[in-house]
Amino acid sequence: MKVLYLNGPNLNLLGTREPEIYGKTTLGDIEKSVRDKAGQMDVEIEFRQSNAESEIVGWIHSSKNTCSVIVINAGALTHTSLAIRDAIAACGLPAIEIHLSNTHRREPFRHFSYLSGVAAGIIAGFGKQSYLLALDAAVSVHANRK
Ligand code: DQA
Repeated sequence: MKVLYLNGPNLNLLGTREPEIYGKTTLGDIEKSVRDKAGQMDVEIEFRQSNAESEIVGWIHSSKNTCSVIVINAGALTHTSLAIRDAIAACGLPAIEIHLSNTHRREPFRHFSYLSGVAAGIIAGFGKQSYLLALDAAVSVHANRK
């Protein structure tokens, strides 16, 4: 099985961006940990980041025939993007919404997510671990679908 990890705006700045909230781990470090764990589980990974909503929508469209599950940290687009929500619904793959921070403990504008209503589940608040937990969730969601 292949899992597509999508990362939205500003996540390329992890490591230096508000480290008191997001930690000091870079997105490259997170990708490496995900790939290491996936290798042990015999899962293939595609890992992408973009600051552009349209690019993320395009990746969701093209994942339809190549991937089994989407794991998405859409960053701020979580709270604004009906287009990403519709793309997930349209492609039909199970999606797992993830966040480094617990968005529900933060500002009220982070409490609403356009994606949650089309997600198989949500993992938030565990920092880098959110990405690794999502891999277990992806395998489980895929197994239950077959
Ligand atoms: C985030 C939470 C969002 O509210 C924020 O805009 C981000 C990161 C997280 O991983 O905690 O960019 O998705």
